[in-house]
Amino acid sequence: MTQNEQKLTDALERLQRAEDPAQVEAIRIEALGKQGWLSALMKTLGSMSPEERTREAPRIQEMRATIASAIDERKAALEAAALERRLQTERLDLTLPASDGPRGTVHPVSQVMDELAEIFADLGFAVATGPEIEDDWHNFTALNMAETHPARAMHDTFYFPDEGAGKRMLLRTHTSPVQIRSMMQNGAPIRIIAPGRVYRSDSDATHTPMFHQVEGLVIDRGIHLGHLKWTLETFLKAFFERDDIVLRLRPSYFPFTEPSVEVDVGYSHQSGRRVVGGSGDAEGHDWMELLGSGMVNRRVLEFAGVDPDEYQGFAFGVGVDRLAMLKYGMNDLRAFFDGDNRWLQHYGFSAFDQPTLSAGVGARP
Ligand code: DAH
Repeated sequence: MTQNEQKLTDALERLQRAEDPAQVEAIRIEALGKQGWLSALMKTLGSMSPEERTREAPRIQEMRATIASAIDERKAALEAAALERRLQTERLDLTLPASDGPRGTVHPVSQVMDELAEIFADLGFAVATGPEIEDDWHNFTALNMAETHPARAMHDTFYFPDEGAGKRMLLRTHTSPVQIRSMMQNGAPIRIIAPGRVYRSDSDATHTPMFHQVEGLVIDRGIHLGHLKWTLETFLKAFFERDDIVLRLRPSYFPFTEPSVEVDVGYSHQSGRRVVGGSGDAEGHDWMELLGSGMVNRRVLEFAGVDPDEYQGFAFGVGVDRLAMLKYGMNDLRAFFDGDNRWLQHYGFSAFDQPTLSAGVGARP
């Protein structure tokens, strides 16, 4: 075997054992690089006699072809092995579900307002809204509270600066002005609820300067107190999701209703919590004042352009925050508006499993 054949055999052997592309490259440079032994061998062809060249050229070309293809093969084999290793180790499992990121919650007040809209929709009520920045006339005068009316004192609110001629806007103290706006806009008959924010300059454990009410208004021919009682009973049964709701209607006074009634609901104490249900006169039970209501005062109908000789109606107003506390067991109203994320995570609702009422009004016998 010539020296060159020995070099070739040696290179081919080392190629077989080469474990990474750098080793293969080193062998290639040794043989085929500018200074490589095979390149040098090629160059010797130039100085050969024609007969010698005819004899040697094919052998040298063959050696060159052999080592070049062995290099290519080894490179390809190593690349394939590397790819296989990557496929084994870098596996991306696309069947894994995405991890659950942080989620917000629906505030109990929003939840309760949705529940109210749902219940009253079953009873044929539409949802009406009105401005929170209200004028004196809609908030007081048209509700039969003249400027000197003592009832205005209970509604001490936030006033905007005087606009001249004694006119100043205010933050509405109740949702009742929506009664006036609805009647003036749509006339009779009418069946609406009006949920929303209201404001009073009050602040302690059970009062916040902003809170929520829902107003109800029904105007039609021949409406009487019996319709009011049935509506409230049906609403409260659906809302608290129990049939043993017992109401007590007490005579009261509101300027915008005549007669006026305050509605109490029976409840019992259960492990420090007020649980609505049963008669307030039963053993271990009591009455709790829940809402104000009554037959709409004829003067209010007149203010709103409805003929009181043709149409009658009832109205009610109830605190939404209070309803939420009673149904879902919170005891500090101020926490409703602190925006504490822990509280919201605990008392809030998932936006993805609405509605939460187990049975609508229509589902009841
Ligand atoms: N607007 C009253 C308040 O905020 C609540 C109320 C009482 C509303 C009687 C009514 C009603 O519609 O008939 O104190």
